[in-house]
Amino acid sequence: MTNVSDATRSLFHQTPGEPYEYLKDLRENCPVYFDPILQGQFITRYQDVYEVMFNAKRFRLQARPGEAYDEHQSKDRVVTFRKLLNFKTVTPFLDTIIRPELHRLMDRLVAAGEVGKAELYRDLADPFPANVIGLLFGMEHDDLPDLVRYRNARAAFFNAPSDDFSALEEAQKWQAKVDERMREVIAAQRRSPKENLLQFLMTVEEDGKLLSEEDLIQVTVRDILMAGSETATRSIANAAYRMLTLPGVYERLLNDRTLIPDFLEESLRYDPPVHIFWRAANDDDEISGCPISKDAQLYTSIASANRDPEMFADPDTFDIARAGGKHVSFSVGPHLCPGAWVGRNELKLAVEALLDRLPNLRLDTDEEPPQLTEVILRNWVPLHVRYDA
Ligand code: HEM
Repeated sequence: MTNVSDATRSLFHQTPGEPYEYLKDLRENCPVYFDPILQGQFITRYQDVYEVMFNAKRFRLQARPGEAYDEHQSKDRVVTFRKLLNFKTVTPFLDTIIRPELHRLMDRLVAAGEVGKAELYRDLADPFPANVIGLLFGMEHDDLPDLVRYRNARAAFFNAPSDDFSALEEAQKWQAKVDERMREVIAAQRRSPKENLLQFLMTVEEDGKLLSEEDLIQVTVRDILMAGSETATRSIANAAYRMLTLPGVYERLLNDRTLIPDFLEESLRYDPPVHIFWRAANDDDEISGCPISKDAQLYTSIASANRDPEMFADPDTFDIARAGGKHVSFSVGPHLCPGAWVGRNELKLAVEALLDRLPNLRLDTDEEPPQLTEVILRNWVPLHVRYDA
């Protein structure tokens, strides 16, 4: 047992690299640990993580200090997310926006750089989900690079220690630029309607009223851009990494595409893109026998919950045949990810495109190897590959 009472240890010291030994130690010896850098209680056992994320009576959604993006999470807004992102609303755009964008990016990937070489994070995982969101909400292709820059600046802020306000300033600078562009897109679409998700969102009511321009901006290029692209980007990168590094997995998927959904569920369990999330205690409370005071900031370790042997047999083994559905990577309860259907589809399409378009795909061992980076939102990068051109 390591010294869990060492109050200087933090999740932030476990990066780069896989933090699973550290998480196991906390799960076994100190399941509610005050992280000195996060400045909050870090929760690691599956049952506790589940309860904290699920039980809105005991625990409310509250971002960490300095996080200025959480005021909008009203009950009505959660309903708006569900109306907007469900299977019925998004299906028509699978063939008109999502697949064409994926294939545009794959064409560009194949045409760019040295023949038979690519970097899958930069050329596919990074732009694909953000571009899809931009296009679904009426942006043009020329707008998309700035959208990805803004998204990455916000992700850098998410991953920074709680007192790093320069990361917040950078995110806000890009946010102002993207907000301005979205204002123009909304005005243009009010004059001349288009078939996309923005048009649908303009018909949605909250508290009996249509959404204001500010609401439309908040939902599109703030909430959904961030929630729906950071996560999907990192999930694509993580799935690609495991597909190319775990023995036999690439060949199995190539020969049997029906395995892809189970492979992706196991990849989401094994390498969740969101390693931790946040809540606060509504009252004085107790978790795994540890007292929690009212309003205490809590961090749920999704990554640790997904590797808890109380819930998953042999949790450190990647097993495509594992019965899926129990991981908490999409959260649970009232805030359960409303974009899960979209995300799963994007992942499936991306893996299929890699299998179909890049024959004999393998990691390029002459280039910098992938590392599991960052702390809160995590993924394997860079992903230099070779394929038979
Ligand atoms: C593919 C991988 C994805 C993963 C692993 C993921 C995971 C998550 C997690 C952990 C949360 C936090 C929920 C909570 O507070 O308990 C969340 C929320 C959310 N996600 Fe996802 N997500 C993914 C994709 C997407 C996509 C593609 C979209 C939209 C297109 C999306 C939209 C949202 C929204 C709007 C929320 C906020 C929900 C709320 O506050 O009630 N997500 N997601």
